[in-house]
Amino acid sequence: MAFPFASFKNPTEVIYGFNAVDQLTSIITQQGFQRIMIITDPGILKAGLLEDVKKRIPEGLEVAVYDQVEANPSIGTCEKALSVLTGIKAEVIVAVGGGSAIDVAKAVGVLATNGGNIAEYEGADKFAQPILPLIAIPTTAGTASEVTVFTVITDTDREYKLTVAGYKLAPRWALVDPLMTTTMPKQVTASTGLDALVHAIESYTSQMASPLSKALAREAIRMISANLRQAVYNGENLVARDNMLMGSLLAGLAFSNTRLGNCHAMSHPVSAMFGVPHGVANSILMPHIMEFNALSVPELFADIAADMGEVLENLTLIEKAWKAVESFKKLSLDVGIPQRLSDFKVASSRIEEMARDAMKSGNIAVNPRKTQIEDIIQLYERAM
Ligand SMILES: NC(=O)c1ccc[n+]([C@@H]2O[C@H](COP(=O)([O-])OP(=O)(O)OC[C@H]3O[C@@H](n4cnc5c(N)ncnc54)[C@H](O)[C@@H]3O)[C@@H](O)[C@H]2O)c1
Ligand SMILES: [Fe+2]
Repeated sequence: MAFPFASFKNPTEVIYGFNAVDQLTSIITQQGFQRIMIITDPGILKAGLLEDVKKRIPEGLEVAVYDQVEANPSIGTCEKALSVLTGIKAEVIVAVGGGSAIDVAKAVGVLATNGGNIAEYEGADKFAQPILPLIAIPTTAGTASEVTVFTVITDTDREYKLTVAGYKLAPRWALVDPLMTTTMPKQVTASTGLDALVHAIESYTSQMASPLSKALAREAIRMISANLRQAVYNGENLVARDNMLMGSLLAGLAFSNTRLGNCHAMSHPVSAMFGVPHGVANSILMPHIMEFNALSVPELFADIAADMGEVLENLTLIEKAWKAVESFKKLSLDVGIPQRLSDFKVASSRIEEMARDAMKSGNIAVNPRKTQIEDIIQLYERAM
């Protein structure tokens, strides 16, 4: 039984296109911001993207930078960035990076106006005050954190990734500029692009999916499947970069309204305990989860196969559904993603612990096939 379709909401103003980053100047000027906090990571600094963004900040304003965000960012990182922000009493945060930098900026935005520790706000709508105004500039075509209502932060003491959710978390502006993604290394392009595809597929098959979210998810599946290989093997192909970033954005608008599914519930413990990059963990797990889900909603998986460009003539519905699984596997192999969790030293001895953490995720309840902890254990075993 599908969830009732109650609403579709996205509070972020999206400015999309080549040179969208130029709009930073007018936003800052029009809003009269004087003290600006930039949150980013060392890879972005090295790629020269921080300088590109700084150039768009009008002269004479006070600017502080925190550039030490790590992949799967921790509570400690949020606290360090917060202390830089409070040092200049920043009025606005500019996040430059992938999901990691943008998620830290969201968490810091929550802490700046609500106080406390980010772990206190795990779950939906657990904080009262709107976050500090946030301008998100994505540099990966992956998480779509620039428009989603989630932030994912790692509690390193508990080896646990916690998710904070709520419309108040959404960035006020997203400057979504394909030129910011052309410096992404091959492996990052591949794994973040597959993360975006997983978002689109999980959103499309989520029990919370609506006609609105489904239209966005399907277009995302088409755009990502048709462009990821080109973006990986010819990073300067601007058409492919543009389509990947739009695909990721559409998937983000969709899943922000539908949540995800078993794959994201299961990938978070893998990243928290073994440091596997988010997109890689999802890419390895996803074919197993698609196999688990395919027969519960074969008509949806048949749509996915068609959107991924599979030839489906003369096949039965079930055969079409399996083609979606095959297609995902082919794409993942083509872009060079490792295929087993054991390639990352994920230990079998911790499967039960990972499964217990996965079951805490709100994504399990919306997965198209009803899932028990025993199923999750089996899925981890298959992915090893
Ligand atoms: N908030 C959400 O809705 C949401 C959704 C999914 C995932 N996430 C979270 O986002 C994080 C993953 O984010 P990600 O996959 O975007 O990767 P990331 O932000 O961790 O970046 C990965 C690496 O790529 C480098 N990089 C990024 N863009 C680059 C560019 N243009 N040029 C050169 N180097 C570049 C970074 O420096 C970094 O080293 C995880 O913590 C995950 O849990 C959040
Ligand atoms: Fe993701």
